[in-house]
This record gives sequence, structure tokens and C-alpha cells, in this order.
Amino acid sequence: MELRLDAVERHLRTALDNATEPLCAYVYDLEALRRHSETVVAALPEGCELFYAIKANSDLPILRALAPRVAGFEVSSGGELAWVRAHFPDTALIFSGPGKTDAELRLALDSNIEAIHVESQHELQRLAWLSESAGKVAPVLLRVNLSLPGLAATTLMMGGKPTPFGIAADQLPACIDRLQSTPGLRLRGFHFHLLSHQLDAGAHVELIAAYLDQVARWCDTYGLAIDHVNVGGGIGVNYRQPQQQFDLAAFGAALRQLRQSRQNLPRLRFECGRYITAACGYYAMQVLDLKHAFGGDYVVARGGTHHFRTPYAQGHSHPFHILPVERWHYPWPRPELRDATVNVVGQLCTPKDVLAFDAQVYRVRVGDLLVFPYAGAYAWHISHHDFLRHPHPQHSYLPMECANAANE
Ligand SMILES: Cc1ncc(COP(=O)(O)O)c(C=O)c1O
Repeated sequence: MELRLDAVERHLRTALDNATEPLCAYVYDLEALRRHSETVVAALPEGCELFYAIKANSDLPILRALAPRVAGFEVSSGGELAWVRAHFPDTALIFSGPGKTDAELRLALDSNIEAIHVESQHELQRLAWLSESAGKVAPVLLRVNLSLPGLAATTLMMGGKPTPFGIAADQLPACIDRLQSTPGLRLRGFHFHLLSHQLDAGAHVELIAAYLDQVARWCDTYGLAIDHVNVGGGIGVNYRQPQQQFDLAAFGAALRQLRQSRQNLPRLRFECGRYITAACGYYAMQVLDLKHAFGGDYVVARGGTHHFRTPYAQGHSHPFHILPVERWHYPWPRPELRDATVNVVGQLCTPKDVLAFDAQVYRVRVGDLLVFPYAGAYAWHISHHDFLRHPHPQHSYLPMECANAANE
């Protein structure tokens, strides 16, 4: 997960030179994205494939950079499905997500989808009805919510406990029964996504091994022949200690060992979002004001959580660095803080508009630029952009460098 801060800062300095208003911008480094996605794919052993979960960031330049490098895209709504198909007619697609409507299921049946990940017994019943009435056969993965002994929790759990996601394992027999008796459905495998924010490579391989054990028992019990297991996304990004990221090399090695130690394993499919695009994105905000109130120091900057909701959504203080900007046009001394502990806030009229707290800074001045890395996933795309009708930030995409870096 290499950060190319120099390239990003050069771009931001040009943007500052051209700005007529305090700057607020997203910058996405497509060259870094290319390198990182290629590294992730190369780390996976044979028999594994990587899909990208576009919910993390579905901007076209991002998808164009990734399409030739990943096995396909995972979409989680009719909107995402239509967006991808409009721009990538031939890319392999899988369709997940709770609460799919009939219209979305019909769209999936008409869109040459690799697999529809079914989330409930009733969804399976509706899919059977829709595919049979259309004279089609729906390729199905059953998303299962399992409780696994010793499952180490992360800060974002989608399963392993009561949640609205997936089919509770005790309802599996009824689903298998329907699949085996309905010609309009074809079981291709099982899907799991029990957690996100996984930072422990060893724990992640153990989780995958537990999925595979469980799938082998189901295949035995119900006499199933499947072709793959989707082990979800969930590899995390360490926002709190950015120097300590998920150990991709150790993960790849342990996964390779797991595959070598077992016979007849099904293909493994990953559908990662955050881990793929987080590190290519940066959110930059220019400092508008410095305030001291009841012992607290506040840096008020252009933009806020309506653009970059990630820190609030995850409850962390987001790391940032300060790009010094020398331009100052007021006829009075420039406000500054030195060796201070600050809270970084945006322009919203809510005390929840906090991007960083208790952060140590050597020096920050009105007019300097704060640059937040790891802002390429679940950042702009999960934010409430039009709250207060502030202007949207600029969005720029630094191009890939290699001459033959295919785009689409
Ligand atoms: C079913 C499913 N798959 C994949 C993902 C992507 O997860 P992550 O971004 O943690 O890799 C999500 C995220 O919510 C999900 O719900």
C-alpha cells in the first residue's frame, strides 16, 4: 500500500495556485491504485480470484483502472449493476446485498451475471419464481450467516451473531431443498461476509479455513457439487496506526499453504472493497480558522464530514499531514498554532463534524492545507454531500504512469 505523497502534493500545489476560493479536493492516485491492485492479485495463490466491491468507490476512472486487473466487480444494488453494465458490458459481475427488489432480480437475470448472492429464504423463493417465469436458470450463491467458535470480532461485524445479513445456518436445509427441486435455480456455491476491518492476516486465513470446513460438511451432508466459495471482502485498513497495515505477503503465503494442505478445494473468490481503493484517495481541506475554546484547540477547515464521513463512520481520528501554504493576503499577522493538540472540524453546524481529534501538530496556520490519506474507499461515496449546500470538492485523478497501462 504505497502512498505517493509527492505526486499528490504536486497536484495539490497546482490546484492551490489556480484556486480562487479556499481549496477542498479529493485526489485519487490511479498509478498507486494500479500498483496496489496488481500486488494484491499477485499475492493470491492459484485457485483464488479477486473481485472488487464497487460500493467502496464506484467512480469511473477507478473502475476503468481496476477492470483489467481484477476478475470482476461485485455490485450490491440495481443502480450499481446498471452503472457497471453501461460502462463495462463484458466484465464479470456478481450481485449481492440485502433487500433486492423484483426489478433488481429481473435486471440481474437479464444482465449476464456470474452469480446472484441470495440473502434470505424468501429472496430465494422470489428468484425461483422470477427465473422460471422468464424461462431462465439463475446462478445462485447462498450467503450464510454462521456462528463460528472462537471467531475474533472486528469493529464491523456482519455475521457470526444476529444480523440482517445472509441466511441463518439453521435455515439452510429448506433452501437446499428448494434449490434441488427448482429447475430455475442452480447452486454454484456459498458466500460469506461475516466481517470487515480485518487487520490480522493470520486470523483471516483461519476464518477462510473455517468457511471451507463448513462448506465441505454441507457438500457431504446434502450431496452438493459446487464450483466456488465466495469468502467476501473485509480486509481492513489501519487508520489508527497507518504504519501497521494488513500483512498481505503473510496472508498470501498462509493461504497458499492452506490450499496445498487440502485436496479438492473449490475455487476461492474474494470481493474486497476498502483494501483495494482506500490508499489511492486523499481528501484535502484548506484551513479557514483556528479557535481556542475552554481549553480545546480547533482547526476549522473547508469541507467536512459531508464530503469525508469515514472518520465519523468508523469512530476514529483520521491521520493527516499539513501541507504548508505560504500565500497570505490579509493585512494582519497570520493566525497559527505551534506544538499543539488539535481537533480538526469542518464547516457543518453540528458537533459531529469532526475529522480528527487529539492530534499533535508542530505548526498549523490559517491557509495551510490538511491532507487526509486513506480516503479512497467509503469516503465521498458514503457522505451526505448536500447537507448545508456547501460546494462539492474538486475530484481529480492522477493518471497511470506506464505507457501500456490498459484502461478498459
Ligand atoms: C457482502 C459484502 N461483500 C463485500 C463487501 C466489501 O467489504 P470490504 O470493503 O470490507 O472489503 C461488503 C461491505 O459491506 C459486503 O457487504
